[in-house]
Amino acid sequence: MSTESPGVPFTALGGAFEQDDIDAALAIMRAAADPGGDFFPLPEEPQFQKAFAEHEGAGHAVAVNSCGTALDACMMVLGIKPGDEVITTPLTFVCTATCAAALGAKIVFADVDPVTLCLDPARVREKITARTRAIIPVHFAGFAADIDGFAEITRESGIPVVYDAAHAVGTKYKGRPIGGAGHASCYSFQSNKNITTLGEGGAVTTDDAEFAESVRQKKTFGYVYGGSLRVASIGFNYRLTKPQLAVGLTQIAKAGRLISAKLAAMRKMQALLDGAEDVILPGGIEDGHGAHLYVIRTPNLERGAVAAHLKEQYGVGTAYHYPIVWTWEAFDSLEYDSSDCTHAVAASEHALSLPVFAHSTDDDLRHLADAVRGTVRELS
Ligand SMILES: Cc1ncc(COP(=O)(O)O)c(C=O)c1O
Repeated sequence: MSTESPGVPFTALGGAFEQDDIDAALAIMRAAADPGGDFFPLPEEPQFQKAFAEHEGAGHAVAVNSCGTALDACMMVLGIKPGDEVITTPLTFVCTATCAAALGAKIVFADVDPVTLCLDPARVREKITARTRAIIPVHFAGFAADIDGFAEITRESGIPVVYDAAHAVGTKYKGRPIGGAGHASCYSFQSNKNITTLGEGGAVTTDDAEFAESVRQKKTFGYVYGGSLRVASIGFNYRLTKPQLAVGLTQIAKAGRLISAKLAAMRKMQALLDGAEDVILPGGIEDGHGAHLYVIRTPNLERGAVAAHLKEQYGVGTAYHYPIVWTWEAFDSLEYDSSDCTHAVAASEHALSLPVFAHSTDDDLRHLADAVRGTVRELS
């Protein structure tokens, strides 16, 4: 993409797949096209789970069909039920909250850190009651949440922490991958994430073998395989298909390269936007940042106007991460107090995610930076 053709869509699914991914998916389909072929068995499943667990520094990984179902499974395994309270951030995708709400829990929102926009353990502490049964921080945009801070809460109170790691394939905390943190971490391989298993997919990672086995049962009808098949618990079907798992293997093998390229592009954006007036840049795009989203804030302008101007005048698509969860109509019957979560609300009002990708060229990035500076100037 160049400055002469300034169409920069926000989602660039084009570019997600390379020849090795295509070959992997086609090889499975070709084999199954043979009249004697089949989509089963799935040796790719344990292979992918092993590779993913290793990549994320966890003892175990269970592949599922989305981060949403990963979170659902974890909440069920924790036994979340009506009357329980689950604390999370309001600045997230809706399923971080609905996974517990669906089981009858009351969702309690706590504020985020103003720089990383991840749930702040100090603010979570203020919300803990005798009914708190789980905490769900999000590693927002690729920033690691304060894992030590949450581990301290679990040590003191026993409250389990399940991380929403949808943005965090490749994220590191203090130099180490984050997949073994807390009770579990839930990843997404949906189309615009750092790796994708043909558009949808996810995984739960954990260091706890028993927890991993319970999630595995939830994802496969409660089955326990052995001499004779048993249905040991109530479960569902959250499985990935064989071509998805095969592509997961090719994607995870090159995740390091893809994430480094995206991180490099984000750093270039930081340099290009350095000193831009009335723009808050994401703080701390350091080594270990998962490089999922590049989120700027324009605190003195209305976000919708900025997004529209970027699109109409410069052909730049943006995305909005996120509307505050309690503003969705599904939460209308509950009353939430926005004065409790001022950083999250302020970020939600002014945040815009820019189209920065692993394959962005220097011209793309210069065009984006010019578009942001121009938009702020023209709207101020
Ligand atoms: C923070 C967060 N959590 C969960 C999800 C859901 O992921 P999936 O689409 O894999 O269910 C998303 C999706 O974008 C997300 O951004």
